[in-house]
Amino acid sequence: MSEADQSETGREEIWLEKYRPQRLYDVVGQETIVERLQSYVDRDDLSHMLFAGPAGVGKTTSAVAIARELYGEEWEENFLELNASDERGIDVVRDRVKSFARTSFGGHNYRIIFLDEADALTSDAQSALRRTMEQFSNNVRFILSCNYSSQIIDPIQSRCAVFRFSPLPDEAIEEQTRKIADNEGIEITDDGIEALVYVAGGDMRAAINGLQAAAVTGSTVDEEAVFEITSTARPEDIEEMVTLALDGDFTAARTQLDRLLTDEGIAGGDVIDQLHRSVWEFDLDDEAAVKLLDRIGETDYRITAGANERIQLEALLASVALD
Ligand SMILES: Nc1ncnc2c1ncn2[C@@H]1O[C@H](COP(=O)(O)OP(=O)(O)OP(=O)(O)O)[C@@H](O)[C@H]1O
Ligand SMILES: [Mg+2]
Repeated sequence: MSEADQSETGREEIWLEKYRPQRLYDVVGQETIVERLQSYVDRDDLSHMLFAGPAGVGKTTSAVAIARELYGEEWEENFLELNASDERGIDVVRDRVKSFARTSFGGHNYRIIFLDEADALTSDAQSALRRTMEQFSNNVRFILSCNYSSQIIDPIQSRCAVFRFSPLPDEAIEEQTRKIADNEGIEITDDGIEALVYVAGGDMRAAINGLQAAAVTGSTVDEEAVFEITSTARPEDIEEMVTLALDGDFTAARTQLDRLLTDEGIAGGDVIDQLHRSVWEFDLDDEAAVKLLDRIGETDYRITAGANERIQLEALLASVALD
């Protein structure tokens, strides 16, 4: 949708799209990757590529930026985005690839197919994809995107240049959110920025969404607003809960947990993630930290496997308190 369309419908523009970098060099925090990609673009000679990494760090953004740089105004005709988990089966992917590869070409000798969530394909489907990649390698370059490259079969990995995107550094998140807040005329406190950086944990999408959601009220965005709107526990509250358990006061630790889950409505899985991120900030000796991590791993696994979150978290606190 063009910007004009959006203002016509009067909808609040989504900042994620508004501030999505258009050029490779505007992608922040991924300098090494950007440089490598830029050199492919400069030579106008793409290989198949595999982008691996966590959510919200610039994989889709970089793929679109490559297309914009290569094709300019015509990028949309030369760039097909497919989502492996939407497309029912590899046959659909193959058909769409075929018709895209066959339609008449402008000035370029190849087009780009961006296949998101490639790790959602079964290994049989990936084998079929590999054949499709070869069949059309004359006029199509694939950019596959996934969270875990270990889920991609070797024959595909070996045909791709692999780019490993990392979680974005805190400074990159801070800089970008400050820039957006400035540009939107949003007042945000330093602790508000710090909270956004914490909530994001390297994920720029989470930071920008959090900022936009917190800004809706129109008042100054501070720590309070960010934690509330993103349903994130304050790091101090998590620390207090763990400290109580470590001191052997299970009842108080449990009360604190209950407050987070019930009063603040925080998901158990998020409590575990936050615990995991904070372990090294709790001022524990190495042995205690290692034990705690071990239990966090166990609890995380059980919750992911479907066990009751509250029971698992209480069991975690109980075992910490018993030590
Ligand atoms: N490195 C970055 N520099 C600047 N903005 C970024 C960066 N990464 C992400 N963003 C912002 O976050 C949004 C989401 O990024 P993007 O779609 O590239 O994520 P992704 O890595 O493809 O994640 P997913 O695995 O969830 O698909 C973008 O619209 C952009 O506004
Ligand atoms: Mg993406």
